[in-house]
Amino acid sequence: MSPPSSDFRTRLDLHVRAGYPVLYLVTSEEARAEEEIRAVAAALRPERRVYVWDVVRGFGDGAAVRGLPGPALDCVEKLPDGEAAIVVLRDFHPYLRDHQIARQLRNVAALLRARRQTVVICAPLLEVPATVGEDITILDFPLPTYDQIATRLSGLLEGVESRLESGASEALVKACQGMTLSRIERVVRMGLAAAGVLDETVIDQVLEEKRQTLRRSGVLEFINAEENLDDIGGLRGLKAWLERRALAFSERARRYGLPNPKGLLLVGIQGTGKSLSAKATAQLLRVPLLRLDVGRLMGSLVGESESRAREMIAVAEAMAPTVLWIDEIDKGFRGLGSTFVGDSGTSARVFGTLITWMQEKTSAVFVVATANNIEALPPELLRKGRFDEIFFIDLPTLSERREILEVHLTKRREHRLREFDLDALAEAAEGYSGAEIEQGILDAMYVGFEARREFTTEDVLVCLAESVPLSRTKQADIDALRAWAAAGKARTASS
Ligand SMILES: Nc1ncnc2c1ncn2[C@@H]1O[C@H](COP(=O)(O)OP(=O)(O)OP(=O)(O)O)[C@@H](O)[C@H]1O
Ligand SMILES: [Mg+2]
Repeated sequence: MSPPSSDFRTRLDLHVRAGYPVLYLVTSEEARAEEEIRAVAAALRPERRVYVWDVVRGFGDGAAVRGLPGPALDCVEKLPDGEAAIVVLRDFHPYLRDHQIARQLRNVAALLRARRQTVVICAPLLEVPATVGEDITILDFPLPTYDQIATRLSGLLEGVESRLESGASEALVKACQGMTLSRIERVVRMGLAAAGVLDETVIDQVLEEKRQTLRRSGVLEFINAEENLDDIGGLRGLKAWLERRALAFSERARRYGLPNPKGLLLVGIQGTGKSLSAKATAQLLRVPLLRLDVGRLMGSLVGESESRAREMIAVAEAMAPTVLWIDEIDKGFRGLGSTFVGDSGTSARVFGTLITWMQEKTSAVFVVATANNIEALPPELLRKGRFDEIFFIDLPTLSERREILEVHLTKRREHRLREFDLDALAEAAEGYSGAEIEQGILDAMYVGFEARREFTTEDVLVCLAESVPLSRTKQADIDALRAWAAAGKARTASS
């Protein structure tokens, strides 16, 4: 879905030539979409004539009555059989709810199949009632590519004094990735108006605007992650795997003929470092981190979820290279296929959209999904081809606990690290997750702080002993996960 726009042209061309009667283009960039349509129409043999309709202007030929959706479809019906044409209907989606219009569109669709004529509905939202679903083919219109943005910016910045260093203009284009051209234009103009010249503050403004756009969309968030692989104690198998994949996440690897890595799924109980690993992955790949809130995505109004899922995918693709972090994927798709009631299959469709994309994507969007509970996950997700690898993160082993202690003590007391008895602590922390070990250290710091002295090994030991690790109450869950991983369903993240 939504590969870069030369691919969009190819897809549109294919659909038109294959005789799909009604295409539905989801986009808020009508002008750019119509440009693409015209380009495709002009390149076809015979060339297609392009008609554009909207409810205010009709077909622009002064026939006011044709401003109504019914008469518009009449006009399409009355096109001469032999004329090769593409008819663009702007914002036609609300009318599809009218059963008379829906019926008429289906009649027209049947006619068009036999002619060299195609209807393209352009709409910012995806609203296709089930009644016409069979006759309409949905195409996603991708956000502008790097090159398209660069071209638009150079037009926009002509004659503007630039104080950017050479590398920074690339940063400006990257900052713009994931937004529509019109929004890019607006925010850059605004930034220029404020600063008077093109400088770093303009880039910051673009980034801020993008952050807010994402936040408004409600399902994607831009994360500033500073954690890197050195912040992860243990998990050597996972780290080694990530380092190898990081090499494959490069232009050099593309030229070598390797596909872009798809991503990985991390499964394990709470506090074992799944989220931490997702963040470190973005750092390792040196790309932005986008977090998808699956709960919010599924919780959007019925029907809207589907639009949002496609929009989310378009944004992630436009921002490529990027890491898309699907946190707690089990929460969003819990029990899919068994007990979804009352949402008329929306959840299943959203899940289908996501999974098809994961399977087919060729772009540099590296997916890192995390889950606590494997039973809640639909089995399709675990099938080959969705992820490059599935990792099970178990509770840390003795040597891993030592490393985790070292990471966190170094963070807080680098100069006193040698005073701590890491072996004794690692031994005592059996059954504790990384998060719980970190908490033990923090608790000990409170104790020392209160007593106005440095905290010691002894303090940490006491604090660990006083807390009850989750593993004690979750033993059954852990055993189930271990059995699942041992059955060859996942690789273990420790070495
Ligand atoms: N292997 C580890 N090395 C170092 N720190 C760790 C490790 N595992 C967990 N931590 C610490 O615990 C914190 C919480 O871990 P994290 O959020 O990654 O857990 P999680 O597996 O995502 O848990 P949840 O299932 O609850 O989301 C981390 O930010 C980190 O400080
Ligand atoms: Mg987490």
